[in-house]
Amino acid sequence: GRLLIVNGPNLNLLGTREPGIYGSETLEDIHELCRSTAARQGFAVDVVQSNHEGELVDAIQAARGTAAGIVINPAAYTHTSVAIADALRAVALPVVEVHLSNVHSREEFRRHSFVSPLAQAVIAGAGVAGYRFAIELLADTLRS
Ligand code: DQA
Repeated sequence: GRLLIVNGPNLNLLGTREPGIYGSETLEDIHELCRSTAARQGFAVDVVQSNHEGELVDAIQAARGTAAGIVINPAAYTHTSVAIADALRAVALPVVEVHLSNVHSREEFRRHSFVSPLAQAVIAGAGVAGYRFAIELLADTLRS
């Protein structure tokens, strides 16, 4: 099977963007971690990153029929996007939401997520390992 890994706006800048909050690893490092983790679990991954809300909606819609589950870090759209949440509802695949930082220890506006109500699990504050945990959880879920 395949998993879709979705990363939202500004995550293309990882490695140089506020490293004290988001760490020194790059988006390519995350993609590599996702590929190797999924491969160990017997899954392939498709990866997408976009700074554009509609492109993220398109990628989620396209997962219907091609992916068995979705790992998503919607980044700032977590806190604003009804469209991304509705796209995730529409495809009705298991979703794990990931945030590199602990969004609950930061500004108040980061504590609300439009995605969390439809996510199977939310992993925040584990850094890039959060993507590994998310893939392992989805793989377990899809096997059972
Ligand atoms: C983030 C947290 C969001 O609040 C922020 O807008 C991001 C990244 C994270 O991974 O910690 O861009 O999703």
